[in-house]
Amino acid sequence: MATYDQLFENNKKWVAEKIASDKNFLNKLGSNQEPDYLYIGCSDSRVPANEIMGLEPGEVFVHRNIANLVPNIDLNVMSVINYAVENLHVKHIIVCGHYNCGGVKAAMTPKDMGILNPWLRNIRDVYRLHEKELDTIGDEHEKYNRLVELNVVEQCRNVIKTAAVQKSYAANGYPIVHGWVFDLETGLFKDLNINFEKVLEQIQKIYNLTEPH
Ligand code: CO
Repeated sequence: MATYDQLFENNKKWVAEKIASDKNFLNKLGSNQEPDYLYIGCSDSRVPANEIMGLEPGEVFVHRNIANLVPNIDLNVMSVINYAVENLHVKHIIVCGHYNCGGVKAAMTPKDMGILNPWLRNIRDVYRLHEKELDTIGDEHEKYNRLVELNVVEQCRNVIKTAAVQKSYAANGYPIVHGWVFDLETGLFKDLNINFEKVLEQIQKIYNLTEPH
């Protein structure tokens, strides 16, 4: 583990290394950002967004919270999506969960979690939506991991339910929303192959927000 003081040393080393491999690094860093991607992932320290996607500063707009949730009254994630779509014009939005997610495990633990209760409730609601399927899985570990996947699917739906995404897609053909799960045991992503067009069509029966008011 790095000590606190090492963080500043690491930072200086990082700058030196970046400049060594690209002498324009600081010019690029200081100019405007034009990322093609918005990544919404878990705060878990083992899932560093840029690093696992091999992306450099400026290439991905990142939002992370416990269990990669997209609750529609969370001003933070809603602002991030709105800004990424309307101002940065991102082409892809990735919701990325991960197996063995502590947030998902905590949600399924029958305990009072204090301030975390309303946050984790979103995951319990995902469980309720998919109760039939989840209850057929006998192995607890497998059940958690399936809930991790279903949570990603539901959060993708929540992203697609936003007016910003629906309107931008109608006008420009982007962003496309993707659902991934990061596997801590292999270090690899699993693409859940969410059919964006199909989900959009399904949710617009009830959540269509493309018309101006
Ligand atoms: Co997590």
